[in-house]
Amino acid sequence: MLSTSHPEALRFDHVTLEFPGAHRPAIQDVSFQVERGKVVAVIGPSGCGKSTILNLAAGLLSPTRGEVYFDGLPVTGVNSKAAYVTQQANLLPWLTVRANIGLALKFRKIPKDERNEKIDHWIKTVGLTGFGNHFPRELSGGMQKRCAIARALIYDPSIVLMDEPFGPLDAITRLKLQQELLNLWDEQRGTLVFVTHDLNEAIYLADEVVVMSDGPGTIRRVLPVPFERPRQISSLVESREFAELYNDLWSLFRSELRTSEATS
Ligand SMILES: Nc1ncnc2c1ncn2[C@@H]1O[C@H](COP(=O)(O)OP(=O)(O)OP(=O)(O)O)[C@@H](O)[C@H]1O
Ligand SMILES: [Mg+2]
Repeated sequence: MLSTSHPEALRFDHVTLEFPGAHRPAIQDVSFQVERGKVVAVIGPSGCGKSTILNLAAGLLSPTRGEVYFDGLPVTGVNSKAAYVTQQANLLPWLTVRANIGLALKFRKIPKDERNEKIDHWIKTVGLTGFGNHFPRELSGGMQKRCAIARALIYDPSIVLMDEPFGPLDAITRLKLQQELLNLWDEQRGTLVFVTHDLNEAIYLADEVVVMSDGPGTIRRVLPVPFERPRQISSLVESREFAELYNDLWSLFRSELRTSEATS
């Protein structure tokens, strides 16, 4: 992973985002920070502004008020140091799985042999063995998402932003990739911000969980996840601490669901 001396990879400072013509801001006065090397999960009801937060971090949107900082500097355009796995996989339809996954390495002029070796490794890691020469249209939604994850992680980006990375996957593949991501993070300690609807996933993977409220999107609480790393999901789920944290998160989330039902 790339290293810089700035301790905060990402900082939102009183950020409000109003889409033109919208009757209320998508997010309002959002402040939080992500320390370098930390994994942060963002959860909250549909429409509360989770994707908007990632789009701001990636530099695809600019705040209406407030500032987003990356490595201590304001984000003023597309943030090329961030790898972004968007909510839709967004693969290039005219390229094969191999070419999609290897794209960032090609841009960086990595020699072909090294590129192929890394592509092979990532195809295997995300369970796409045998599909390297297929095109995105020949893959299921979950396979496309796995391809997008491999494409983002292959070049050791400084920060990874993922929008519901495991959303469309079946339970087994999901668990496998969650554990794979944990192992990878133990080796590389990169910075990761991801959006999820899955409370278990937030606890398995994250060092902190940002819980958002709806209408407009604000931050309700930031809960630390105190489990040491390396983590094994299978032993985590059996611990009492896991159950307690899950209950805390669930009570917060449940009251959010009630609030959004009442305001919609
Ligand atoms: N391009 C846009 N133009 C106008 N309004 C938008 C646009 N994109 C998002 N919004 C609005 O901003 C708010 C936040 O949207 P966002 O996509 O960030 O929510 P989300 O939390 O990611 O939801 P989900 O969990 O369903 O993906 C919503 O009210 C949405 O309607
Ligand atoms: Mg979203």
